[in-house]
Amino acid sequence: MILKGKKGIIFGALNDMSIAWKVAELCVAEGAEIVLTNAPVAFRMKGDSNIKTLAEKLNCPAIPADATRIEDLEKLIDESMAHFGGKIDFVLHSIGMSINIRKDKPYTDLNHDFMLKSFDISSISFHKLMQSLWKKEAVNDWGSILALTYIGAQRIFPHYSEMAEAKSMLESFARSFGYHFGERNNIRVNTISQSPTMTTAGTGIEGFQEFLDYAENMSPIGNAPAQACAEYCISLFSDYTRYVTMQNLYHDGGFSNMGMNPAILNK
Ligand code: NAI
Repeated sequence: MILKGKKGIIFGALNDMSIAWKVAELCVAEGAEIVLTNAPVAFRMKGDSNIKTLAEKLNCPAIPADATRIEDLEKLIDESMAHFGGKIDFVLHSIGMSINIRKDKPYTDLNHDFMLKSFDISSISFHKLMQSLWKKEAVNDWGSILALTYIGAQRIFPHYSEMAEAKSMLESFARSFGYHFGERNNIRVNTISQSPTMTTAGTGIEGFQEFLDYAENMSPIGNAPAQACAEYCISLFSDYTRYVTMQNLYHDGGFSNMGMNPAILNK
């Protein structure tokens, strides 16, 4: 129960493969109260595994918000604070989407209007969220703000396309806003750089299975599963990590520090 008494907002639970889904379940299991949110389109998903079924299961509100729209974010924050009867302790930004990848555009022929939209959804939304939280002074002192990222921000994975730049920007926003939140409220802001994971966003990338297999063989401990990522997120929301801020934290079974692994050659 390391989150007992804490209150948080979780973005990005689309279905039961989503990393945010596992984080939401574990937050509640560890004693937190949460509000779920996602883009309005996610609320129209059919089937047994969608944000509404998760909200029912966890007995928590689910509030639609397009993370690129300040009005939506402000409404979400106001409604969450009204629900909690006070400020928020933690927030997870688990949002990513590339329009150019969706439209199969090669990196050397990207559409720049699509690119701007991808950056707005995947990175600028994080600044918009933090700025809205900042202005409303919505986060308790010693709170924790977290976003999910990928090592494609530092190294080239050609099929990751414009998401490389999107994630670089996301990580930079965490550092820059981490300064301000730290100075004012001792609030920490970090990104977790997760292994490739079989989710809707992940499988949108060309050759994703090969990607996953390569990383699995390269990493001494193997790819970190979504559930383990959720466990790491929980530790960062808990009081055990209060001085960890402005960091990009690799959660990847060791992949990020490998040069060559004979396991790959042996295959
Ligand atoms: P997912 O597809 O389940 O989650 C992506 C979420 O973004 C969805 O819930 C989607 O509805 C939401 N979203 C898209 N546009 C939005 C908008 N305008 N407003 C609000 N929400 C919006 O996939 P996954 O993998 O759980 O992705 C979560 C995060 O983890 C993303 O930031 C992703 O880049 C990151 N990540 C994923 C990896 C993977 O291999 N799956 C590896 C490393 C990081």
